[in-house]
This record gives sequence, C-alpha cells and structure tokens, in this order.
Amino acid sequence: MRRKITVVGAGNVGGTLAQRLAERNYADLVLIDVVEGLPQGKALDLLQAGPVVGYDCNIVGSNHYEDTAKSDIVIITSGVARKPGMTRDDLLYTNMEIIKSVTQNIVKFSPNCMIIMVSNPLDAMAQLAFHVSHFPKNRVMGMAGVLDTARFRTFLAQEAKVSVTDTYSFVLGGHGDTMVPLPRYSTVAGVPIPELFPKETIERLVQRTRDGGAEIVKHLKTGSAFYAPSAAVAQMVDALVYDQKKILPCAAYLEGEYGINGFYVGVPAKLGKNGVEEVVEFKLSKEETAALKKSADSVKELVELMLTKMK
Ligand code: LAC
Repeated sequence: MRRKITVVGAGNVGGTLAQRLAERNYADLVLIDVVEGLPQGKALDLLQAGPVVGYDCNIVGSNHYEDTAKSDIVIITSGVARKPGMTRDDLLYTNMEIIKSVTQNIVKFSPNCMIIMVSNPLDAMAQLAFHVSHFPKNRVMGMAGVLDTARFRTFLAQEAKVSVTDTYSFVLGGHGDTMVPLPRYSTVAGVPIPELFPKETIERLVQRTRDGGAEIVKHLKTGSAFYAPSAAVAQMVDALVYDQKKILPCAAYLEGEYGINGFYVGVPAKLGKNGVEEVVEFKLSKEETAALKKSADSVKELVELMLTKMK
C-alpha cells in the first residue's frame, strides 16, 4: 500500500517540498492551498515531470481538505512569510489564525497522521498545532533545527574550504534570533570547531547562522528561503518513512528535558516511524544551558501572547 503525504500550502516551500517528495517516489502526494488553481497547477506540472524523472506517485492539487483524508504525514507550510526588516515573531497573529484552522481541518480528515510544522514563528506554531490537534506529542514536530544546522554547516565548510559533507553541527533552541548553535558539538572531519577556528571566527559564523533566514529575505525582498527549508523537511520525512531513528535537531514538546517544561523548542530528537521517539539529552555547559533557556523563554513569551489572544 502506498503512503499518503499532504503538503499544506502550495507556495515556494510547499511547491519545492512537493517536488522533493515526488522525486523520492515513496508516497502519493496531496498539495493543498486556499488559492484556487495554484495547487492544481503545481500538482499537474509535477505529475507531468514524472515520466521524465521516473517517478510514478500520484499527485493531487486541491482546495478541499476532503482530498487529504487518511494522510500518514502532513506538512504545514501555510501562512505569510517575512518581508525585509520583519522578525519571524512579527508573523504570530496573522499565522496563528491560519494554522489553527489548517490544523483543525487536517485532524478532521487524518486523525492518525503525523504533523510537521514549517510555518513561522515555528516553535509557537508547532505548539499551536499540538494544542489544537490534541495529538500525542510524538506526532507533532517542527522543522527548523535541520535548516539552521544546514546553514551553520554551509558556513563552516566555506570557512574551512572543505566539502559540506565533511561538516557536522547542532543548532538548538527556538527558530529565531536566540537560536543556539553549539560549536562544541560542531565538527569538521570529526574535529570540534573550537580546535580549528579562533573564537572570533566562530562567533561570526554563529551570528551569520542566526541571521541566515533574514539574509535571504533581504536578497529576495518578497519572501523567504525555500530550497534549504524544503530540503530540511524532506530529510525529516525520510526519517519517518524509513523509520531511520535518525537524530535530527527539531522542535519537540519538552516535559522536563533540558530543564524545559511544556514548550516546543529545538532539541536533538530521534525520528522514526512513531515520529519523535525520543528527545536526546546532550550534556550542555552552563553557558549553553543558559542560552537554551533564554531561547525557550522567548518561545514561551510568544506562546503566552498567542494563548491570551486566542481566549
Ligand atoms: C528561514 C525562514 C523560513 O529561516 O524561517 O529561512
């Protein structure tokens, strides 16, 4: 039996993600959007790439949630993206209404699915989907750490003048200005970067990673990044579909791990067929713990604003 994956939002992230998933050929796809014609057009175009690329999954574009019924995995990319000068947090009130209604519709037709949140502000939107869906915590997660990590790895590879495949890194915390790249757990060919680069270089790369999304928004002017975000989601979907037990940094609901309770924050999570199967607790230094706590506090602030507004 074929799996079914729904991508909500047929914009740049959703459309590119649908392409990446189609090319993997492991599930039938539904692309859904409120804009009439957009998901239908992109789905048909993707379907017609199948004979050339060599995939034969079915791809449906729709404006109706009935078509998403019995999805195994649903990725939510809907909502508005940042414009230059905006923070992800500025999107809170607009996107929370959209994400609330999307989640309700998803749950109605796919009560057993796994949800991956991509819309910003990421951690707060993951938390919203968790509250609205009433799903167990393992079935609602947020993308972001994989993207932030990929950005950090790109900059590390550029600095070290090596292949990106020689780099490894972890970026924890919320997907925002307070995210926490962890130099001690970031390596080039297995060597931790504090042994390779002076402190100032690391600080520069860390800051560029934190500003990684904004740097792209500034170039594009009319929207935010989508190639790397969609690649990051596809890696998470692979981990679920193939039951990889892969440890990826993503937004997960914490109940005491890392001293954080009741919030979604980016942490290393083991992803497999049951979603977030475990939150992996690295040993953090005092400074790293403080930075993670600060990041969690900013997520908490957003979540509280959101919950107050929703009452
Ligand atoms: C970024 C946006 C998508 O980091 O959050 O590019």
